[in-house]
Amino acid sequence: MTNERRLPRVLIARRLFPEVADRLRAHFEVDASDAPDPFAPAELAARLKDCAGVLVTGTERIDAELLATCPQLRAVCSMAVGYNNIDVPACTAAGVLASNAPGVLTETTADFGFALMMATARRVTESEHFLRAGLWKTWSYDMFAGTDVHGATLGILGMGRIGQAIARRGALGFGMKVVYHNRSRLPEADEAAVGARYASLAELLREADHLVIVVPYSASSHHLIGAAELAQMKPTATLTNIARGGVVDDAALAEALRARRIAAAGLDVFEGEPQVHPGLLTVPNVVLTPHIASASLPTRRAMADLAATNLIAALTGGTPPTALNPEALRL
Ligand code: DGY
Repeated sequence: MTNERRLPRVLIARRLFPEVADRLRAHFEVDASDAPDPFAPAELAARLKDCAGVLVTGTERIDAELLATCPQLRAVCSMAVGYNNIDVPACTAAGVLASNAPGVLTETTADFGFALMMATARRVTESEHFLRAGLWKTWSYDMFAGTDVHGATLGILGMGRIGQAIARRGALGFGMKVVYHNRSRLPEADEAAVGARYASLAELLREADHLVIVVPYSASSHHLIGAAELAQMKPTATLTNIARGGVVDDAALAEALRARRIAAAGLDVFEGEPQVHPGLLTVPNVVLTPHIASASLPTRRAMADLAATNLIAALTGGTPPTALNPEALRL
């Protein structure tokens, strides 16, 4: 009989960088998914049965029901910054440390938000489809004429790290006026640093030439932008959503785009993704991308690494750097 101590077991719930799994193998027995698709809830519960920790993405739902089936679980570490898929109070009640991955994806995500806004304003994908379809016969003065970005008013809904990084790009790079709405107002110095002016939601909707949505999803931000809000926007305005599906009422947005109540939209996130509202697939004035705002390889690696760092710390007596409920470790 050997006296060898068994390492705690952890699950990597999605196919991920092999070097992150190797890093975890130095501390744990690792069960790493190699399936391209997420586990169904029952399979996730079964795989977690004897695990002390799990590395998840923004896709896996971690709730009280799941936690009740794996009482030995002590840490749920996500490589996403958004954590609406994790019931943090339920984790705390179960003594499970939860963490997300803020900071490491800020600039990459802001780059993408800006790119999506520009593609939307300047009709990049719509004109590419036209070209690929062989419809380009000659130059004409109004062919795919869009809206300017430089010098326009940039409206930001949700002024956290990513919102502020988008504001910097707009103000410093493109001479845009920046207005924002957020649950809490930024300190004056932070507003001055990005040249941003606080506005009510109604003012923001009225004034923005380009509205970029970066607000986290929660019960209180569900359908924050619906038909009534879209009706307050300029008919020439664009809307870009890189936050979460559900912040915008996609059915109302599809109808506003169809009726040209706003000029165009750029969407990286969708209600019920990977399903996309059929009305959004048939209007030409929308740029659609499959939730890739943080998808540069170095950033995705940094996100996974931060999740691994949190997991190692949580299960080896360390201090997870980006815990959502550090009090869970003391329970
Ligand atoms: C995030 O980190 O929240 C991104 O949306 C990826 O899920």
